[in-house]
Amino acid sequence: MHDNSLSHTDWLKEARFGLFIHWGIYSVAARGEWVKNRERLGDGDYDPYFAHFEADLYDPSAWAREAANAGMRYFVVTTKHHDGFCLWDSQLTDYKATNTPAGRDLLRPMVEAFRAEGLKVGFYHSLLDWHHPEFPVDGFHPQRDDEASKCLNPGRDMAKYRSYLHGQVRELLTGYGKIDYIFFDFSYGPDQHPEIWGGKGREAWGSEELLALVRELQPGIVVNDRLDLPGDVTTPEQYQPAGPMPLTGSQSMWEANQTLNGTWGYDRDNYDWKPPEMLVKMLVDGVSKDGNFLLNVGPTARGEFDDQALDLLRKIGTWMHRHQEAVYGCGPAPFAPPPDCRYTAKGNRLFLHIFSWPFGHLHLSDLGGRVEFARFVHDGSEVKREEIDPAQKANTIRMGGLPPGTLTLKLPVRQPDVLVPVVELSLRL
Ligand code: GLC
Repeated sequence: MHDNSLSHTDWLKEARFGLFIHWGIYSVAARGEWVKNRERLGDGDYDPYFAHFEADLYDPSAWAREAANAGMRYFVVTTKHHDGFCLWDSQLTDYKATNTPAGRDLLRPMVEAFRAEGLKVGFYHSLLDWHHPEFPVDGFHPQRDDEASKCLNPGRDMAKYRSYLHGQVRELLTGYGKIDYIFFDFSYGPDQHPEIWGGKGREAWGSEELLALVRELQPGIVVNDRLDLPGDVTTPEQYQPAGPMPLTGSQSMWEANQTLNGTWGYDRDNYDWKPPEMLVKMLVDGVSKDGNFLLNVGPTARGEFDDQALDLLRKIGTWMHRHQEAVYGCGPAPFAPPPDCRYTAKGNRLFLHIFSWPFGHLHLSDLGGRVEFARFVHDGSEVKREEIDPAQKANTIRMGGLPPGTLTLKLPVRQPDVLVPVVELSLRL
């Protein structure tokens, strides 16, 4: 059994910030990665996306540079999504990038490029497979309403699909060097989706056996929580937990999986882009609650990050360039921040992230007498501070006393020109 005492998630907790990549033939449809399900497409309807997946502008080194410059320290890429299409040159199927106009294994150069930029390597791998002939039609399948397709189920052998699933995971974990993180997606048994007929969980996937295979092939690899087993990392998505996630069993951390515009796969006509300052706040919010931030990009069918994604990554990168010390290796602080602020902490360095710029002052509870210096992180400039006498009477131009132990920061009227201003408070040892 896996030794849970191993802190094999330490690198992930130190990294805090990663890139999620959803890329496949659904990028040609450009309507998100669930388009086959949502539009109930048959293989015939979907084949044109295979036939027109060219990736002719694909430059994984450019992707890796953008991720590294954004301050991301690991990446997780969809090796296969629910549609069954494989980015790598699998020997177990013809439904792979090698046989599209892209004409090659797209995963290998990506792994090499991201490793060259110093990022850790993660593989997303779908447990579902809407293309495999042995995968039964169920309540999530694109043909879930088609009686003729459902009639094929008796002839479908889930054991054969399980063998294919495990065989492909073996290919991925033996053919691409050290893999640091595997992100399976997803289980929908009675515990997760009781409303879905034909739901599948640990029995269907052979999760116990699959997890043992993963740990045997890649000792120390981090595994997520979607095998219908606890795993190492719990992975909330599309919401920010209100507090630290409850961890069970072998789970030692959590990671928020988020998108730039609500969709994972490239979605051309979706303009619901999050502002850059919101994305930075989500990153910081997670770290303040001891969580990671895995932020997604859905590249185009031609193999590029679209301009909006690039713009957001670069704006985040400008902030991270100056504020990475307030993120990497940081975690929660034992102090309650003022309203609209978050604390992250590392050793005797306390970082105050100011989400909403106040007029003139910020009052920090329980920090009186504990701070030897305060400065803005972005430019290193001093932030003046004072401890107002609790007995002080307010008058026309002077505020009254504050609770004992309160430290008051004196702030410039104008917010510094950064997405989220941060004050570093050096605590007395
Ligand atoms: C959701 C989506 C899936 C995506 C995953 C990423 O499960 O349905 O398409 O890959 O989130 O965490």
